[in-house]
Amino acid sequence: MCRGQITSPLHIMNDRPHQPVLYKEIIHALQPQNGGRYVDGTLGAGGHARGILEASAPDGQLLGLDVDPQALALARKTLAPYEQRTHLVQASYISLSRQLDQLSWKAVDGIVLDLGVSSMQFDTPERGFSFMNDAPLDMRFGPSMLQSAADLVNEYSESELADLIYRYGEERDSRKIARAIVRARPLHTTRELAAVIEAVSPRRGERIHPATRTFQALRIAVNEELASVEAVLPQALAGLRSGGRLAVISFHSLEDRIVKDFFREQSKDLINPPYEQIYAEERKATLKEVNRKPITPGEDEIKSNPRARSAKLRIAEKM
Ligand SMILES: C[S@@+](CC[C@H](N)C(=O)[O-])C[C@H]1O[C@@H](n2cnc3c(N)ncnc32)[C@H](O)[C@@H]1O
Repeated sequence: MCRGQITSPLHIMNDRPHQPVLYKEIIHALQPQNGGRYVDGTLGAGGHARGILEASAPDGQLLGLDVDPQALALARKTLAPYEQRTHLVQASYISLSRQLDQLSWKAVDGIVLDLGVSSMQFDTPERGFSFMNDAPLDMRFGPSMLQSAADLVNEYSESELADLIYRYGEERDSRKIARAIVRARPLHTTRELAAVIEAVSPRRGERIHPATRTFQALRIAVNEELASVEAVLPQALAGLRSGGRLAVISFHSLEDRIVKDFFREQSKDLINPPYEQIYAEERKATLKEVNRKPITPGEDEIKSNPRARSAKLRIAEKM
């Protein structure tokens, strides 16, 4: 689906069967089995979840989470044929351990996390993720997020904004942009913000719009994306059975680094864990990386879905 196209979630459902990023690779990674128990922590429109349920028929079960009530409504439709085998909850994946406890699922066979923003969210102008349409600066994945992008843009100090844009957007013009935002505010809409950024940080022959990195930074901050990924990984590890697999798709280097570091750390045998020098105990590796290098979409997938181009899939298996 192209950026900027105005679509309602139902339009996506009716006219275009949803093929999520790295679909075949996710199903191959999790190898769903009849009777298995699986978790999709980022349901979106339910494309990966449907694949898992189909591959684990007739008795495989799936717990699906999403913070976004609109995504959940879409997923409910996609997954209606498998209703008896699904448990869909509007909740953050950071509550994964609690959600598993509530189902009395002690250990699951596979977990998928497809991080970030969905096409439905991006293409719904009033969600404020895109500057291709003029809309309120919202960017919240769900109603549980306390602050919108407008709150950050209009209330943070210049140095807080500059730090945020630099850290989460990896934007070298962060100071200039923060200064311009503070001068121009209050700013209420996506286009107002994009115009302010474009004025002080014009295109330098780059493919991406100058506002892209600042929009990414605000979205990450609004939704506490990096802290959420850090919080879910140990819970996912704890929730897997031995031999169970965790598959994570990330879309920018900041979240990929968190996943990569966690997988590397957990796949080492540690003798004398540094934080327990005095009571040195061996800690065996808890994970095995299935792919040392991340799996990325092939040319065909990128051609049919340009947004897939920055996707990276890492897979680990519990020891
Ligand atoms: C890239 S989409 C997932 C698409 C999905 N794999 C599919 O097949 O349609 C990411 C989804 O994760 C959700 N999300 C983001 N942060 C979340 C969190 N902390 N907990 C649960 N869901 C989250 C978003 O609302 C969005 O619907």
